[in-house]
Amino acid sequence: MTGHATSDAAGRELAVMVLAAGQGTRMRSATPKVLHPVLGRTLLEWVLHAARPLHPSRIVAVVSPSMAGGDALPTSIEGIEVEQAIQHEPRGSGDALRAGLATLEGLDGDVLVVNGDGALFTTNTMGVLVAEHRGAGAAVSALGIPGDRSLPYGRLIATADGMLERIVEAADATPDELAIELLNAGMYVFDRAAAATDVAGLDSDNSQGEHYITDMVTVAREAGRTVRAVAAGDAEELLGVNTRADLAEAELVLQRRITQGHLLEGVTFERPDTTVVEPTVTIGRDATILPGCILRGQTRIAAGATVGPYAVLDSVEVGERASIVHSHGIDSRIDEDVSVGPFAYLRPGSRLRAQSKVGTFVETKNTDLGRGSKVPHLSYVGDATIGSGCNIGAGNITANYRPELGSGKQRTTIGDGVRTGSDNVLVAPVTLEEGAFTGAGSIITEDVPAGALAIARARQVNLPDYARRLEGRSNAGAAGT
Ligand code: UD1
Ligand code: CA
Repeated sequence: MTGHATSDAAGRELAVMVLAAGQGTRMRSATPKVLHPVLGRTLLEWVLHAARPLHPSRIVAVVSPSMAGGDALPTSIEGIEVEQAIQHEPRGSGDALRAGLATLEGLDGDVLVVNGDGALFTTNTMGVLVAEHRGAGAAVSALGIPGDRSLPYGRLIATADGMLERIVEAADATPDELAIELLNAGMYVFDRAAAATDVAGLDSDNSQGEHYITDMVTVAREAGRTVRAVAAGDAEELLGVNTRADLAEAELVLQRRITQGHLLEGVTFERPDTTVVEPTVTIGRDATILPGCILRGQTRIAAGATVGPYAVLDSVEVGERASIVHSHGIDSRIDEDVSVGPFAYLRPGSRLRAQSKVGTFVETKNTDLGRGSKVPHLSYVGDATIGSGCNIGAGNITANYRPELGSGKQRTTIGDGVRTGSDNVLVAPVTLEEGAFTGAGSIITEDVPAGALAIARARQVNLPDYARRLEGRSNAGAAGT
């Protein structure tokens, strides 16, 4: 049922409306509630991504005036435009519905309305609700999920055959009503035209003094329409994120689902509960993710790679069989059989070619490290092109910042098979041609021809008998007192 639901057999359209204009005061935040991020997506984006596979013909987000047009709102989701309907004042979820329906005027079909804080709703549950609604020819359907009766969610008061009488908010419910276990999840389907009429009948006669979307049930019933309670979904999906504690709980559930997906695809996780993997990350078969990793953005990990323990990768490509230990990488590419870390920092634009190595306390940036080349210890390599089969000695620094040469960074170019000594400063722009060597402690300011050895350090001077002369001087001093 999650296939092409844009229109059903009867040719009815499907729109998705996400209610996202609430203030979210319980978050105690300057950021609107639905714009809080969880695993790289806002709550609103999680809902939109879950709804997207239903192939709605339109998607509308009901937002507050302060959110409207802002950068944090997606303008499209996987190719479908996200339209914004503005709710001018937060007068309740029913009033938000009214704002969204105004935008959908003329739509011939149904509207799936979802709370924007329902980040755990699944595509499957959304699809079941739409299918049941259409199957029953209902005007209104509300999703009920059986759950813990101590939860502060509305109760669906329904008959045994699924006819919905009304929804009562927990705060307005009698003890008998609170004993009902079919909880209002915050997902509904409305016949668009009927809802456009009914929404005018909402009032704010309740404990919050707001217009409740849940009262649409009563109005529709009074108009003689078919109103259904659909029991579907998992208790886990009930979580509407109202507080930061809820946000943390949502993250755990979403993370578990993501990890589960990778596990079933053949990825090994050691202590998966310690690792953060955003939904945009891909991981190949027989890759191993060791404890304490954070994998974000467009990170792509190829088959057989080992990441961790303690690796943070933000949009890093990792090739087959590469190993990344206790390191931090951003916007970089690591080819097959590369070894990184422990304690390396790959800044944007690092490209480590096959079988190369970046070792301990090494920082790279905007650098192409050739095949099989090694930067094993204590170095900064920035704005450099390094050929294949090179060894960069311990403690080398590419001095790329030369303000006297202009604002840009200067490049270091190193040919194939170059070996630099320990503790070199390569003052860019500078070229070390193929097969060149440099001596330890050199400060290389001029190009080094192919195959040459450059030594650029002060010659050693040994002052003979220095210790004895020092001793003589201090004895003389003692005698003088
Ligand atoms: C709502 C339901 C409750 C249900 C619960 C499930 C109502 C009246 N109650 O309660 O029965 O059990 O969700 O999680 O809907 N919103 C607006 N504009 C507003 C007010 C709210 O757009 O003026 C949006 C919010 O951003 C949110 C959604 O509507 O996404 C629900 O509002 P919220 O305040 O979270 O309702 P709950 O009290 O959680
Ligand atoms: Ca809520």
